[in-house]
Parts: sequence; C-alpha cells; structure tokens
Amino acid sequence: MTVDPAEGLTHVHSGKVRDLYETDTGHLVMVASDRISAYDFILPTPIPDKGRILTAMTVWWFDQLADLVGNHLISVTDEVIPDRWRGRAMLCRRLDMIAVEAVARGYLTGSGLADYRSTGAVCGVVLPAGLIDGDRLPEPIFTPARKAELGEHDENVSYDTVAREIGAERASELRELTLAIYAQAAAIAADRGILLADTKFEFGLNPSNGDLVLGDEVLTPDSSRFWPAGQWRPGQAQPSFDKQYVRDWLTSAESGWHRNSDQLPPGLPADVIAATRQRYIDAYERLTGLRFADWLGPRFG
Ligand SMILES: Nc1ncnc2c1ncn2[C@@H]1O[C@H](COP(=O)(O)OP(=O)(O)OP(=O)(O)O)[C@@H](O)[C@H]1O
Ligand SMILES: [Mg+2]
Repeated sequence: MTVDPAEGLTHVHSGKVRDLYETDTGHLVMVASDRISAYDFILPTPIPDKGRILTAMTVWWFDQLADLVGNHLISVTDEVIPDRWRGRAMLCRRLDMIAVEAVARGYLTGSGLADYRSTGAVCGVVLPAGLIDGDRLPEPIFTPARKAELGEHDENVSYDTVAREIGAERASELRELTLAIYAQAAAIAADRGILLADTKFEFGLNPSNGDLVLGDEVLTPDSSRFWPAGQWRPGQAQPSFDKQYVRDWLTSAESGWHRNSDQLPPGLPADVIAATRQRYIDAYERLTGLRFADWLGPRFG
C-alpha cells in the first residue's frame, strides 16, 4: 500500500485496470489507468489515453442516466486530483457497496451462453430452446453475479440467491433499476448504431438516506459488450468494438503467442497500440457525439 500524505491521498485498492485512493475527507478517487486486458491477461503494453476515454464515457453516461438514478461522481476537476491524473480520475462519494454485480443482458454470449448451454437458463432465468451465440433475447434479463477473488471469474448467481442475501425488497429494486438503466442505455446506443449486448453495474447505498446509487464506472467497454450493429451476425463471436485489433493480432502468427499455452501474452507493436487507441476514441465520439480532444481541453482549462 502506497501512502502519499503529501497529496492527502491514501492508496486503498488496485484492480486490473483501476486504482483507488481515499482522500483525507473520506471521499474516494478512482483512477482509470491505460492498462488493457485481453483473454483475461493484462497486456504488458498499455493503450495511451484509454483510462481518460473510459472516464469521459462514464461521466457522459452518468449524465444520460441522471433522470433514472443518482451516481457517486462529485467531480473530475477537483483540486485534490493531481495534474498527472487529469481526465482519468473521478472524485466520488463513498457508498455502502452492494456485493452483487448487477448484470443486464439483451443478447446471449459469454458466461450467459455457457450457462444456457449447460442448463437452458441463465441465473435461473429459463430461456427458449435453440438460441445461438449472439442471439437477441426475447427481453432483457437480470443476471446477477458474485464478485470473484482476484484472478477468478465472477460467479453467476440466481435472483433468489440475491434476494436471500440482500432481502427481497432490495433485490427487486436492484433488478428493476438495472433493467431500466439497461433499456435506456441500449436505446441511446442503438440510435448510434451500437448494440449494447450486456453490461454490469455496481450499486451502493447512499449512507445518509439509504437510496440506491450507481457507483464504479458505467457503460464502458470494460464493463459492457458493445457490438457494431451493422456487423451483428448471431452464430459466431461478434466483433468487439474496442479490442478486435488486439485479439486479432494476439492470435495471429505474427505475435508468436498461443492462447492456450502457459506463456504470458507479448507486448503489442506500435501500430496495433495506435489503432486500438483510435478505436476507443472512435467509440467514445460515435456514442456521445462529442470530441475526445474537448474532454481534455475546455473542461479542464
Ligand atoms: N462509490 C463507491 N464507494 C465505495 N466503493 C466503491 C465505489 N465505487 C466503486 N467501488 C468499489 O471500488 C472498487 C473498484 O475496484 P476495481 O473495479 O478497480 O477492481 P476490482 O473490482 O477489485 O477488480 P476488477 O479489475 O476485476 O474490476 C470495487 O471494489 C468497487 O466495488
Ligand atoms: Mg471492478
């Protein structure tokens, strides 16, 4: 644990991609790094500006959802945020986090598809027979998961399990809010030619009044699957908006890496890094209609 009393910030946690600090007034500073994962590995080469782009996206989405749900963001420009984190750090209110990953799915893929293939259901939600990878679901479903230890995959759990753990009323509120936010976000993305296949939210309780509040990051490529609508073809893995270059290069002969070997993946060449950075910027600009250059410009003075 690094403690940096000079800045009034104490390091409290690092995940795969983000670092979390506490301020001396008890708020949190969430810093999105440029680290990128593929095939469950953190790659040795970061993607410049990725953390800034994802932070800009989260802030934009919080705004788009403000009529439905409050969020933990206080400021991205507060003076407690050091200059070197400009655009990638959010000063946030600390919430009493609910220990459930609130996942909504409108399409079947990933761990949902795996569960469906073995049981015909996802998190206890029974689905029609004959669905294939990438299919649209008859209606969006709430498929909660339990956070796994570092290095493990999150574990899907049934709605009943969540109701037992957090109470029936809270569980129902969590499900309804998750699905309402998903519906609104999916409609906004669809207008821009992007399918929101699935996404994960983390909610917490406002300690002063007990309201459910959105925490963490929201609707970024790290917490969601965004698919280009024009290339959607059920029956195969869908091209990923942000990481396709990375995955394609890693599995190509050029990388010399084999996905199922014990080797760690190699660093990415400069052209793949640059193309991936551009993809993140394109995704942000297409979704929001804003220019990424303006995120760091006028807003931060
Ligand atoms: N407003 C908040 N108050 C308190 N804790 C929060 C708040 N928002 C997010 N968190 C928590 O902060 C942590 C952010 O960690 P982060 O997502 O970087 O790593 P992780 O969840 O441990 O691992 P992963 O890299 O798999 O996501 C999570 O535990 C999340 O639940
Ligand atoms: Mg996390």
